[in-house]
Amino acid sequence: MLSVKGLSVAYGEIQVVWDLNLEVGKGEKVAMVGPNGAGKTTTLKSIVGLIPPKSGRVEFLGEDITGKHAHDIVRKGITLVPEGRRLFPKMTVIENLELGAFTPEAKAKKGDTLEWIFQIFPVLKERRNQTAETLSGGEGQMLAIARGLMSRPKLLMLDEPSLGLAPKLVAQIFASFERLHEEGMTILLVEQFVAKALSFAERGYLLERGRIVKEGAGEELLRDEYIRKVYVGG
Ligand SMILES: Nc1ncnc2c1ncn2[C@@H]1O[C@H](COP(=O)(O)OP(=O)(O)OP(=O)(O)O)[C@@H](O)[C@H]1O
Ligand SMILES: [Mg+2]
Repeated sequence: MLSVKGLSVAYGEIQVVWDLNLEVGKGEKVAMVGPNGAGKTTTLKSIVGLIPPKSGRVEFLGEDITGKHAHDIVRKGITLVPEGRRLFPKMTVIENLELGAFTPEAKAKKGDTLEWIFQIFPVLKERRNQTAETLSGGEGQMLAIARGLMSRPKLLMLDEPSLGLAPKLVAQIFASFERLHEEGMTILLVEQFVAKALSFAERGYLLERGRIVKEGAGEELLRDEYIRKVYVGG
């Protein structure tokens, strides 16, 4: 579904992603893990057209989407739930959700999509008329994910959804990803929470200093001696 080939990305003179190759198959759940500053967010932003690549190629459903506008890429079916949520605090839950349905295709299906989202995140239905600033951290993250789903993506990319959440809420968020996966959603998850991400994912990539240094089945990476020592602790 998604095929990234030889992607390099730079901020001005400073290159932060080097010759990155990454594949996500239809219906697959894939994780990209790595430490602070490894280039995870940069890679995701480059895939969705927010940062132009220096070189390389991004294909989605067989089509070259390299360098296309972010808006067009959403219409083609990729949604990025950004790091740090980016909600509109003074707007209600419903209003924040509606902002996610900005393409004509998503607008047409808005009612159905909302019903679907409220099944996955019942708490958002309860809170639908509250402003986003009144939500707890976990609810806010659910809203950010749900807003991403409003565009009816084929590929959902999540940038550090567990950041700052208590373990119980992390478990809830991951349960919602499992449910989406069971419904056929393709997921690319970026996380610093390595153990959790690799037990969730069917396949994973480890990114360090802008380069993929390991890749394989999630379970296999979880057992990897280097990953255990450096990222899992044991
Ligand atoms: N707008 C920017 N301008 C210049 N350099 C940047 C910019 N954004 C990120 N960088 C640098 O690019 C590198 C990769 O950053 P990036 O945010 O992609 O890492 P990350 O893996 O997402 O890290 P984190 O886990 O902290 O979110 C870092 O060295 C960072 O300082
Ligand atoms: Mg990041």
